[in-house]
Amino acid sequence: MTSSDLKNQAEATMMNAYSPYSNFKVGAAIRTVAGNVYSGCNVENASYGLSICAERNAIMQAVATEGPGMKLAAVVVTNYNQKGESGACSPCGACRQFMIEFATPQTTVIYPGENGDIETNADKLLPDSFSF
Ligand code: THU
Repeated sequence: MTSSDLKNQAEATMMNAYSPYSNFKVGAAIRTVAGNVYSGCNVENASYGLSICAERNAIMQAVATEGPGMKLAAVVVTNYNQKGESGACSPCGACRQFMIEFATPQTTVIYPGENGDIETNADKLLPDSFSF
């Protein structure tokens, strides 16, 4: 799957977001090193702090299917805001740490910036990250 296929998959899953509190829909599609694709959306909760981001939703599905050796090859994030427009959505700090746990030095991350998609790398999104 190319990054443009991943973007289509992220956008389709994004439309299933459960985000009645923020009205901010996020989708994420990931390709693993094993070559499989998973996607997730954000799922909010009346107890706000329980809300789960799209990226972590997708990564958890990948681990549940492939097991603890799962590694990320590519992550694509999409966003649809309350005005019904695509907007910027830089992965939050929790998701950056979550990505690093399963990243390799080659893991690419694409997300919507203020002026179009930004392509970067998991290590660059969280320099000097915590690990055991
Ligand atoms: N959100 C994500 O799903 N991914 C991100 O990278 C940033 C934020 C969600 C969480 C919450 O449901 C909504 O967007 C607004 O913060």
